[in-house]
Amino acid sequence: MTVSAPEFIHETVLLKETVASVLNVTVAALETGTIKKTGTFVDATFGRGGHSRLLLTYLDKDSRLLVFDKDPQAIQTAQALAASDARVIVIHDSFAKLQDNLQRLGIEQVDGIMADLGVSSPQLDDGSRGFSFMRDGAVDMRMDTTRGESVAQWLKRVDETVLADVLYNYGEERHSRRIARAIKQMDHYDSTLALAETIKQAHPNWQKGKHPATQSFQAMRIFINNELGDIDSFLDQSLMALKVGGRLAVISFHSLEDRIIKQFLQKHSKGQYPEDANLPMPPKRPKLLSKPERVAPSDSEIKTNPRARSALLRSATRL
Ligand SMILES: C[S@@+](CC[C@H](N)C(=O)[O-])C[C@H]1O[C@@H](n2cnc3c(N)ncnc32)[C@H](O)[C@@H]1O
Repeated sequence: MTVSAPEFIHETVLLKETVASVLNVTVAALETGTIKKTGTFVDATFGRGGHSRLLLTYLDKDSRLLVFDKDPQAIQTAQALAASDARVIVIHDSFAKLQDNLQRLGIEQVDGIMADLGVSSPQLDDGSRGFSFMRDGAVDMRMDTTRGESVAQWLKRVDETVLADVLYNYGEERHSRRIARAIKQMDHYDSTLALAETIKQAHPNWQKGKHPATQSFQAMRIFINNELGDIDSFLDQSLMALKVGGRLAVISFHSLEDRIIKQFLQKHSKGQYPEDANLPMPPKRPKLLSKPERVAPSDSEIKTNPRARSALLRSATRL
């Protein structure tokens, strides 16, 4: 499903696979067109609503779909959808505030939660958002432009060593120290292209087909949006938020995100021993999730949408 709004397009990744997963049916069953479910569902990352729009076609009129996004432009698109579909409830907030928002709305638990992590194509394609090292714009990179500090503001005040740690920890950038030094020597941070060029010049090891600023830009974006911290709290809250039998389906785009999701699903699908138990044979914790499933995009999806290349869908059922 391709959705444009207003001038940028987001090609949804693992569309049918994610919707089938959150509804607990197979893609083949989805394609019969006979599925109609009732319930309350969450799209934690609305974006341009590709997953939400398809899910809505399988929900009856009494169902509800709560859609979250941090991004004001995504929220504008979600509000337009809600204006024509009363089942849609729009929440301009981080998915890390899942429980707060459910409580505020008087919703105890939900039947399914899906999340498609990271940035959308419109965020990357609009140079003025500052996410891209290919298009010039202010060095911003905030998903929620209505609050918080931009990367430019942060770069002005951050210590070189802290910057290097961020580049290393969130970008797995091996040359973080020399890149951090070069960035801190810049006079101003008002151009993504200038920042990308500085990183390129400082980077000693250019790889074919990959801009040398790729990992540093990813690191600054993850840091400024607290992306990994948000995923941690969201996953923890999803256990409380899901009804027994409810489904959790999460798409990641890089190894740092995927590691968190994989470890979370593994931990809760195995009975764990409490770490502080002092007993010779401590009682097992109940399993909270079923054995996790993993789906990667098909070759044909990757061919038509190269962004799908690194996507991975992991899912499980609340027990
Ligand atoms: C890959 S896009 C989702 C695309 C969507 N599935 C579609 O088909 O249009 C990710 C979206 O998640 C949003 N996002 C990222 N982190 C978030 C968070 N912590 N809370 C809420 N939204 C977040 C981004 O602003 C972006 O719009």
